[in-house]
Amino acid sequence: MLMEDEEGKKSAALLAVINKLVLVILLLVTGLIAIPFFIYLDKQPDSSNKKTADTTIPNVETSKDAVVYWTAPDTSKITDVKQKEQVMYGRELIAHTSKYFGPNGSVLKISNGLNCQNCHLQAGTAVFGNNYGSVASLYPKFRARSGAVENVYKRVNDCFIRSLNGKAIDTASAPMQAIVAYINFLGTNVEKGKKATGSGFKDLAYLIRAADTAKGSVVFKAKCQSCHQVNGEGVLNTDKTEFTYPPLWGKSSYNDGAGLYRIVSFAKYIKYNMPQGATYLNPQLTDEEAWDLAAFVNSQPRPHINTPGDWPDKSKKPIDHPFGPYADNFTEQQHKFGPYPPIEAAQKKGK
Ligand code: HEC
Ligand code: HEC
Repeated sequence: MLMEDEEGKKSAALLAVINKLVLVILLLVTGLIAIPFFIYLDKQPDSSNKKTADTTIPNVETSKDAVVYWTAPDTSKITDVKQKEQVMYGRELIAHTSKYFGPNGSVLKISNGLNCQNCHLQAGTAVFGNNYGSVASLYPKFRARSGAVENVYKRVNDCFIRSLNGKAIDTASAPMQAIVAYINFLGTNVEKGKKATGSGFKDLAYLIRAADTAKGSVVFKAKCQSCHQVNGEGVLNTDKTEFTYPPLWGKSSYNDGAGLYRIVSFAKYIKYNMPQGATYLNPQLTDEEAWDLAAFVNSQPRPHINTPGDWPDKSKKPIDHPFGPYADNFTEQQHKFGPYPPIEAAQKKGK
């Protein structure tokens, strides 16, 4: 009996040891499997600050389809003091153009009070926020609007003349040199001849119907008027140096020769950027709302510019160019508001 008891105790102790060993091995194995997982989690970009929309939308955006979008190079990495100073001045001019060139501008009073940044968000660095990622790599280039090869200076002055309803600035002047230095700096990480992913606007499908100004007016009241105001006039800041909320029509808005006066550009811009805080990752307008708003806003009064030299080859006019004559038989009304699928089909057939 005694002997058997001894034996029993021994094997029980042995079993206990084996049990502990198995447990330890199990823990080790799960640990080893888990470590790479935690490293992976740690490497994932932090999306917790995405909600603080308006001023702090991070430049590095991760998309559902895992496309890596262009991000602006870091100005703090510029080692040449002179270059850095010039690039930072250029950035300041893009962000607060009105302070320098607006109706009360400290350099020249030659524009309507918009900032370049109002349309080229985050000083031209926001993904699908009409950013400047591809300017240095693609200019000089042929543009059908002028029928000529344009350099960056010409393109910048185009926006001064049309989007800022103002005058061209001297190409050799320090401000123009700084603006171009900044835009070129932004493109230093893009290969010559290549288009940066996420630059300019994100595509938007055409509606099968014409965009509807009456519907747009209803959406405007609900989703835009709180900032851009009842007559689209916007809100100036307290010292009147720039707009807190820029105007969408009226005397201080872009003129009818500007890019945003075309409803395709307008709809793409607002779909992925408005109301303030929306991005391509969290758009807040349906496609229909974006098109109807574009039609509504671009039917309101705004400054006119004569551009007799535009589109020397009328067959190159974009589908939504709101002024005839056209190379096809569709009306000015249909080119301005759609429906576009029939025009697109006719163009494809013609080719
Ligand atoms: C009212 C809106 C608006 C403002 C303000 C504005 N732009 Fe633009 N800009 C546009 C639009 C829209 C386009 C694209 C036009 C197109 O694709 O047809 C554009 C295009 C450009 C381009 C060419 C981009 C490319 O990839 O080809 C440059 C450069 C540019 N703008 C510079 C400026 C500068 C500098 C200012 C300020 C002096 C400015 N813009 C102000 C709307 C604006
Ligand atoms: C919460 C305020 C707010 C709301 C709501 C809002 N916006 Fe804006 N919008 C802004 C601000 C601010 C800017 C300038 C962005 C910048 O400089 O970073 C802007 C810029 C614009 C611009 C380009 C600049 C210009 O004046 O031409 C357009 C076009 C625009 N908004 C259209 C709309 C439309 C359409 C809606 C309704 C769907 C809308 N916005 C709703 C604040 C707002």
